[in-house]
Amino acid sequence: MGNLALMLAASFTTLAHAQSQDPATLNVLHWWTSAGEKRAVDQLVLQLDKRGLGWNDAAIPGGGGMAAVKVLKGRVLAGDPPDAAQVIGRTLTDWADLGLVLPLDEVAQRGRWKSTMFPVVLQVVTHGGRVVAAPLGVHRINTLFYNQALWARLKLAPPRTWDDVSQAAAALRRAGVTPLAWSDEPWQVATVFETLLLSEGGASLYAELAAAQRPAAWADARVLRALTRLRWLRQLAGDAPGEQRWTNSARQLYRGDAGMLIMGDWVGGELMAWGGQAGRDYACAPVPETADMHLYSVDTLAMLQSRRQRGPAQEKLADLVTQPSMQLAYNQAKGSVPVRIDIDPAQLDDCERDSWQTLAHPGSRVAPSIAHRMAADESTKDALADALHRFVTDPAQTPERAQERLVAIVKGAAR
Ligand code: BGC
Repeated sequence: MGNLALMLAASFTTLAHAQSQDPATLNVLHWWTSAGEKRAVDQLVLQLDKRGLGWNDAAIPGGGGMAAVKVLKGRVLAGDPPDAAQVIGRTLTDWADLGLVLPLDEVAQRGRWKSTMFPVVLQVVTHGGRVVAAPLGVHRINTLFYNQALWARLKLAPPRTWDDVSQAAAALRRAGVTPLAWSDEPWQVATVFETLLLSEGGASLYAELAAAQRPAAWADARVLRALTRLRWLRQLAGDAPGEQRWTNSARQLYRGDAGMLIMGDWVGGELMAWGGQAGRDYACAPVPETADMHLYSVDTLAMLQSRRQRGPAQEKLADLVTQPSMQLAYNQAKGSVPVRIDIDPAQLDDCERDSWQTLAHPGSRVAPSIAHRMAADESTKDALADALHRFVTDPAQTPERAQERLVAIVKGAAR
């Protein structure tokens, strides 16, 4: 970050220049490029257009934003930041510290965000007492999707416990179906793994792991159990599944080539874009032992500072995307849920409704995603994902060894 700050100071003074752009059109960088993600963005573009604000799309493909964040960093360093970008979690707060994002306190005040949004959402977009981004939607990471037609044909019980998953897997295998769709792509492995940390460790241990203040928590026996569970799940996927895109895993599930998939609920948006319907073609259950828990990743648009002076249009964007109608239209297509507490959950599908109600329920535990930047900076989350990737792709590596690696990474990050 130190380097980034220095280079930024230089780039702002030398390279930044006023671009002759329509003041009512904003350049927006994000990574929503799959069918479902595009459909969700289209909802925003359409509604913004009706309200006189143009959206100039700068989408960088790549699940989990692996490529987009690199491109974005490059553009910021070159003094040519987009007007708005999907910058989330720790990356957002790090960039706010560097003075890269436009504070949105007035928009938040005018829109009464304090009384209309989930507390966890407000917490994610507030840093150093200032509002630093406009929240778009909340994804639930601890989601287990399953194929309804297969469940009906094989008369399977909804997978609520690991035993249910194991029994369903055996029945699916007997029927010639791959039990679990899987990808060895590091960020996807990390996404599955954190749901297992929550499942095996419970919300309290998970909170310690995410806070990373006590690296010793990573040495807990329950982390070892999560690693063993991770290996077991990968075995359910068959031999050496490879690093496929998340949309390919979703396709396997949709076609009934695989029975289950553990992934963030952007998968729901994808299945809908292909004509699927929750409750009819696919269903969702919380990952076993995580009912009443919400492992969240909040998508947020940061308004980036530049010499272009787009402040009024950026504020208008922040205001409009958080309005109820746009929140509903976007999130219904994205698979995530509105950031607002004042919407009618009857308007959401089965998967989304369960997510929204879990967030809204006072007894629920919410947990920040490590794999999706809510609780770790870019380099720590990448190092953890690489270690997990090495573990799942090397059957000779013991869970104990993998745990040592995780502990070492977290110790290094805490230093
Ligand atoms: C983002 C989602 C996106 C998913 C897959 C996550 O990090 O929060 O908005 O759909 O990655 O690309």
